[in-house]
Amino acid sequence: MSLIKKIKDYYNGNKRYLFTTPSHAQGDFIIPVLKEMLGIKYFKCDFSEIDGFDNLRNPDGAIKQLQAKIADIYDAKASFMLTNGSSSGIIAAVLSTLKENDKVLVARNCHISVYNALVLSGALPVWFLPEYDYEWGIFRGVKASDINKQLMKHYNIKALILTSPTYEGCYSEISEIAKICKEKSIIFIVDEAHGALYNFSDFNTMPAIKLGADISIQSLHKTAGAPNPAALLHISKDSNVTENRIQNALNLITTTSPSYPILCSIEGTVQFLDSPKGKYTVNKLIADVNKFRDNLPENIDICNNDDCTKLLIKIKGIDCIYASTILNKRFKIEEEYTTSSAMLFLCGIGTNTIKLNRLRKALEYISSSKKVQHCMPNQKAYSIPEMKYSPRFAYFSNKSALKTNIATGMISAEERVIYPPGIPLILPGEVITADIINALDSDDDYINVCI
Ligand SMILES: Cc1ncc(COP(=O)(O)O)c(C=O)c1O
Repeated sequence: MSLIKKIKDYYNGNKRYLFTTPSHAQGDFIIPVLKEMLGIKYFKCDFSEIDGFDNLRNPDGAIKQLQAKIADIYDAKASFMLTNGSSSGIIAAVLSTLKENDKVLVARNCHISVYNALVLSGALPVWFLPEYDYEWGIFRGVKASDINKQLMKHYNIKALILTSPTYEGCYSEISEIAKICKEKSIIFIVDEAHGALYNFSDFNTMPAIKLGADISIQSLHKTAGAPNPAALLHISKDSNVTENRIQNALNLITTTSPSYPILCSIEGTVQFLDSPKGKYTVNKLIADVNKFRDNLPENIDICNNDDCTKLLIKIKGIDCIYASTILNKRFKIEEEYTTSSAMLFLCGIGTNTIKLNRLRKALEYISSSKKVQHCMPNQKAYSIPEMKYSPRFAYFSNKSALKTNIATGMISAEERVIYPPGIPLILPGEVITADIINALDSDDDYINVCI
């Protein structure tokens, strides 16, 4: 069943007189500036659940059939369309599998939505640090041996949450880790937000649920061409996690007015990716990016990560923050992030050879520039502070602002994250150490602590 076709048939059919939400009534009234920006078609397919169009919260018609079709394409036990991004999928995965005081092993380089899920569920994180690559200032993928080590130290772990690929394109050893989890009845959740193309191409990996993870969550908007915040959650065929539990958790946290334009975009994106043209497009992206990697000027270093579409680049002898201003101002190129020693360029289905050639030209220009600047080292050592309160307890505790220089030994009531790459130095409920205070920005005069 195609939701897109059903909606098109509906708005091309007889005029209906809607006394329902949303109040633009399929475009009967559109605020002029929005009409100019978005066009009437957006409004034509934006409506609430009306007869025949099913209900994302309790699907038993067109949406149910579409989700079943998506699950079939991904070889999943069930797939869920997410109109609130991977963030909502990650939270639902945690809420459906963990309860208060359950222990969950989490790699510290997780997205903030994992932390939010811990606050909501009351689950207790056992944090660990994946290997840190000092040369590039990134966390590498998690190895099966890392997980074995953690499981020897910590008992009664109910679930494991990993981010793979990382923002910078590093894979964890998903299939080996999945075997360990299966043996120990640990639920394995993979945040695959940046890996939505892996099902459809010649990537050097497979989607996490095909490698044995129980649940994976993918942002279709990040790499696959769908608009923000279209995403999917999949349960693998041999997982004990039930559809019902995920649905209930999603219903707890997501809007009662899901966006039909986003649902249509999910259908259209998956349909395209699964078509010969879609596979060709993704494979061409891989080929173009690899060609780009092979033809860089000599004084450009490119990180040897796993996912070739995530380009982490250094320019020998040139401060990347300086390089970034030239890229932005002179070449109108915007990168995902820059530190003084590296720049991350994310490629996706919208990356073509015109853009890659422009980037190459810009890098050639910058790398031949006379203006050599000092490269500041970008190496922050991360550690895991002692956790005194659970994320949930810390969230609800009373707080007070304290001068940072006298906060050593207190329990933080807030998170401090280093951007990029967005890894927490400290989270609420953790003990503030002198090292953490030293790593904070010098103008951070106050920190909120739990009282
Ligand atoms: C690793 C990772 N996981 C999850 C998310 C959340 O994805 P979304 O924006 O689809 O909610 C992000 C977003 O930046 C991310 O980088």
